[in-house]
Amino acid sequence: MSAKAIVYTSNTGYTERYAKMLGEKTGLPVYALEEVGKKLEKGTPIIYLGWLMAGSVKGYNKAAKKYEVCAVCGVGLSDTGAMQEDVRKAHNLPADMPVFTVQGGMDLDKLRGINKMMIQMLTKSMTSKKDRTEGEDRMVYLLQNGGDYVSEEHLTVVLEWYNK
Ligand SMILES: Cc1cc2nc3c(=O)[nH]c(=O)nc-3n(C[C@H](O)[C@H](O)[C@H](O)COP(=O)(O)O)c2cc1C
Repeated sequence: MSAKAIVYTSNTGYTERYAKMLGEKTGLPVYALEEVGKKLEKGTPIIYLGWLMAGSVKGYNKAAKKYEVCAVCGVGLSDTGAMQEDVRKAHNLPADMPVFTVQGGMDLDKLRGINKMMIQMLTKSMTSKKDRTEGEDRMVYLLQNGGDYVSEEHLTVVLEWYNK
């Protein structure tokens, strides 16, 4: 069944931007999960986007209870295409469910509470780690400096899937 809408959960805005970009490219209406209310009927087929938190897609479980999720897209700090198998495992997604991940960014000024603490702890443990790999060095840089990596290019694979 083809998707009739895009639903998303964003904490600091990167996922929201991707959801809106995807909405523009596909012509599908876009809703924030926390505001969708009764605007979409239960069981509507959707594409779901959520920010990546420790390998899971924020809001996915709630969205999947209400809607028929046709594809999942996690927005994280890692490279586009990374962590897809973590996401599949974290949510027990069937092998035929399209799973995508795209690189969003990190806005340290917008993080609050537990999320901020978790990033501070992760940064501390990664900076004190000896013999870091190149990938880990890059992650330390991203964690310490933040940055905005949102780009249309990252959605290419998602759009290829949608247009098939
Ligand atoms: C507590 C916490 C855990 C995170 N875990 C991951 C992760 O497992 N993988 C990843 O790629 N990014 C991770 N991130 C980075 C966010 O997914 C990234 O900043 C994302 O772009 C935020 O999107 P948003 O602006 O829509 O909230 C984490 C961020 C926080 C605050």
